[in-house]
Amino acid sequence: MNPPPLLVTCGLPYTNGPCHLGHLRTYVPADAYVRYMRRAGEEVVFVCGSDNHGTPIVVSAEEAGVSPRALSERYHKHFDDTFRRMEVIFDRFGMTDDPATHLRTKAIVSRLTENGYIYKQIVHQAYCTKCKRFLPDRYVEGVCPHCGTPARGDECDQGCGRHLEPGEIKDPVCKVCGTKAEFRDQEHYFFRLSEFREFLLSYLETLRGTSNARNYAIGWIKDELHDWCITRTLEWGVKFPGCDDLVVYVWVDAPIGYIAFTEEWAKGAGKDWKRYWCGENRVTHFIGGDIIYHHSIFWPALLKAAGYGVPHAIVASGMVKVDDHKFSKSRGYVVWTNDDYLDKGLPADYLRYYLLAYTSHTKELNFSWKVFSERINNEVVNIFGNFVYRTLFFAHKEFNGVPSCPVDPVIIAEIEKSLATVDGYMREYEFKGAVDAIMALAAFGNTYIQTHAPWKLIKTDRDASAQVIRNCIQIAQAVTLLIEPVMPAKAQECWTMLGYTDNVTDHPLSDATCPVPETSIKAPSPLFAKMEEEQVKELDALLQKRVAQANKKMEMIPMVTFEEFQKLDIRTGNVLSAEPVPKSNKLLKLQVDIGGEIRQIVAGMQQFYKPEELVGKDVVVVTNLAPAKIFGVESNGMILAAGDSASLLVPLRPVETGSKIR
Ligand code: 2FM
Ligand code: ZN
Repeated sequence: MNPPPLLVTCGLPYTNGPCHLGHLRTYVPADAYVRYMRRAGEEVVFVCGSDNHGTPIVVSAEEAGVSPRALSERYHKHFDDTFRRMEVIFDRFGMTDDPATHLRTKAIVSRLTENGYIYKQIVHQAYCTKCKRFLPDRYVEGVCPHCGTPARGDECDQGCGRHLEPGEIKDPVCKVCGTKAEFRDQEHYFFRLSEFREFLLSYLETLRGTSNARNYAIGWIKDELHDWCITRTLEWGVKFPGCDDLVVYVWVDAPIGYIAFTEEWAKGAGKDWKRYWCGENRVTHFIGGDIIYHHSIFWPALLKAAGYGVPHAIVASGMVKVDDHKFSKSRGYVVWTNDDYLDKGLPADYLRYYLLAYTSHTKELNFSWKVFSERINNEVVNIFGNFVYRTLFFAHKEFNGVPSCPVDPVIIAEIEKSLATVDGYMREYEFKGAVDAIMALAAFGNTYIQTHAPWKLIKTDRDASAQVIRNCIQIAQAVTLLIEPVMPAKAQECWTMLGYTDNVTDHPLSDATCPVPETSIKAPSPLFAKMEEEQVKELDALLQKRVAQANKKMEMIPMVTFEEFQKLDIRTGNVLSAEPVPKSNKLLKLQVDIGGEIRQIVAGMQQFYKPEELVGKDVVVVTNLAPAKIFGVESNGMILAAGDSASLLVPLRPVETGSKIR
């Protein structure tokens, strides 16, 4: 019986920020795997989409002043475009906010309820008395109860990596207004995850993919496995069936997106999505190492409880560092896919090569422009590019095409050995091993052409020279076919230079040993350009500048504790009078009522306001700033204003003069 078809997915990017190197570490290997498996003869469907729900999106949308849907559409398009530019080509790239995910989520949650796996329970949820709302997930920050590291409401993102349930976080503070949060009771729905302990332990033993996805999960389950709160108090998301004021937790509907996107693809392709998700399957999830818990524990348990097939393999990538520092957008240790790479005119294929060849998939990848350029120049340009160029140049010059003679069996054996090695590595998700084996074949070709020197042979024995170059062309064809999953665009260019008029992707890998058609070969042009030192310096300088700017920002704005902040006495005041400070063209002298006390304050506002414009205005005043003499005039406080034109901060609604700002 045929094995079930292969369905490959990638972790869904949140639609709240642009694509960066951290994303690509998962997407590029997944795409390379899909390309490889297709050319190895497998039927493969490759789906992904954007993750539109949850507090990451709501908080960012609030900050940007747009709706969560508008923000999601903007970044959805961005990811769709960027992945294509990186030659990561999905059969379907959907949105979790589209109807398919809503419908499938509701169907699955209803099934869980019918099957008795959902129950209601009161939880002590963080609540902000100032914002007057419950604080789900990323709305709250505090301290991890397990390891004591600062953490987000739903995850210990900087410490032990554990998922945190509502109410677990210690010392909660509202992310929006900074107020110390309190815990209040609220009714939520729970999934009986703890009932799946034994199932998960035996399932994980047989789960394919990378060992990190199995082993971490087994460790966590053995440690403890609680039931899982699957609802949140949010407007934005998939409504919990039968309860309009709750949505399901984003980690329920996001992976269900994988099913929904398969359904969307199947509808267009006239296929049956159930073949991929019901019963025995070969669903293979490529994910980042930070979301193992969700994919190896929550997700298989949900699928099992709802009567679906469970994932066949989970492939989790290692973390990314930049210049030996933890990847961090706020600290500037980031490489943006468009701004820093593609828009600089660098080929997608170079970055694909680097991401796949740098290290084993589960290990840490430490990006630096220096190492990047060295690997491209020494490996891609010098080994692969050089071999192909020398071979085709000589074939064109001396034989005007592919010489008519059979390939040496020794060469065929060498190619077959490489095919088998690469295949073994790819099926084990060892992409570095596979790329190294392909480059080893190109290096073999380089040594072969060098030691057999067809340019010398041609002077004495034209047939022998033809034989050498024929062998080299065969190796070049094999390398081209094998490198396509890694560098699709360059492989196609090379394929065309070999005299083919079709697509390299139309050929199975087994064609590597098939005779190359005896076409004419045109004068080749170099496949790859070296990365010049100047360019590398510029790219590195950009990164260093960003890091320096981020450092400066951090230095300029040291953290203050809540207690320190409370030392400031900030109140509303009412401007009673205003007049220019003599001999100054910038300063105004104001008398401000701060609630039963009149303060004289000097402010640099003459260029922006006429004195009479200010009289009667409610303003915001720091009242306990140490007194100072400005232009010889005593100032007892500071009026708060923003921006280059000193736009005054004013209370939105009328308040009593002297009200404290909190
Ligand atoms: O961690 C993240 O970036 C999530 N958006 C990944 C979701 S993957 C899935 F389960 F859908
Ligand atoms: Zn922790």
